[in-house]
Amino acid sequence: MAKRIGIIGCGAIGSSIAKAIDKGVVQGIELLVLFDQIIEKARVLSTQLKKSTKVVKTFEDLMSNDLDLVIEAASQKAVKDYAIKILDGGIDLMIMSAGALLDEDLWKEINRACERRGKKISIPSGAIAGIDGLRTAKLDIIHEVILTTKKNPKALAGAPFFDKASVKPEDIHKKRLLFEGTAQEAVKLFPANINVAATISLAGIGGSKTRVRVIADPKLNTNIHELEVKGSFGSMKVIMKNLSHPENPKTSYIAVLSAIETLRSALSSESRVGT
Ligand SMILES: NC(=O)c1ccc[n+]([C@@H]2O[C@H](COP(=O)([O-])OP(=O)(O)OC[C@H]3O[C@@H](n4cnc5c(N)ncnc54)[C@H](O)[C@@H]3O)[C@@H](O)[C@H]2O)c1
Repeated sequence: MAKRIGIIGCGAIGSSIAKAIDKGVVQGIELLVLFDQIIEKARVLSTQLKKSTKVVKTFEDLMSNDLDLVIEAASQKAVKDYAIKILDGGIDLMIMSAGALLDEDLWKEINRACERRGKKISIPSGAIAGIDGLRTAKLDIIHEVILTTKKNPKALAGAPFFDKASVKPEDIHKKRLLFEGTAQEAVKLFPANINVAATISLAGIGGSKTRVRVIADPKLNTNIHELEVKGSFGSMKVIMKNLSHPENPKTSYIAVLSAIETLRSALSSESRVGT
């Protein structure tokens, strides 16, 4: 029987996932319901889909549908507000706003809710690669994990980091190191830009030990993530040069593809390498 899906967040990622499901890119799925805090966004998206999809006004309306999986593509706040309720409602959850998961209390609560109800969360690799190598390395000793993220200052605009910083994104005219610290700090200061820091922290040595650097470079037209890992296995370095999603410069297009691929591999019986 087809898995019944709901999407929270009808922006760049949610819309692309909905359209991919609508086109049949992922088999064995029925997209039932769309929810966005700006209802107009959900309405517009529903008109762009061939198959009829319900638009709901509230989270409670979303939960009143008989769903197997909710895809969160909204914000860290949405994860904080809804994740436990979704899992306690007996529904699996895919989380795109991975930064929320570096809140240790929330992470524990989510894991308890999964155990309580026998449900699962999935976290797509998003804008980074190399998660498989990192998880494998973790079986023995990892000495250090460093993420260096380089973006055009325009792609960082709006981040809480700039509330207290002495510089504004529009005043950055040459390459500049903005932040150096833990992944835990990074996801608070750049919540919409650096979910990758959370994804690698969860796969590796945690948010307080994973080091992050954020560099603004006005010459860049790609979002660059460099992941360096050293451990008893040796070392690895992964460099992603991601093009932005056409509708949201903060979001890398590959994050959308990774969400779709996570859905495909969860539902497919195809043999695949690396799973
Ligand atoms: N894991 C990754 O590698 C990765 C990569 C890119 C983006 N992301 C994250 O995925 C999320 C979605 O990204 P996007 O590019 O689609 O963003 P977007 O801004 O284009 O769309 C987000 C949508 O969610 C809605 N929304 C926000 N908070 C909500 C809430 N509490 N309840 C209901 N609706 C809410 C907004 O109105 C908006 O329409 C963001 O949190 C982003 O940081 C993760």
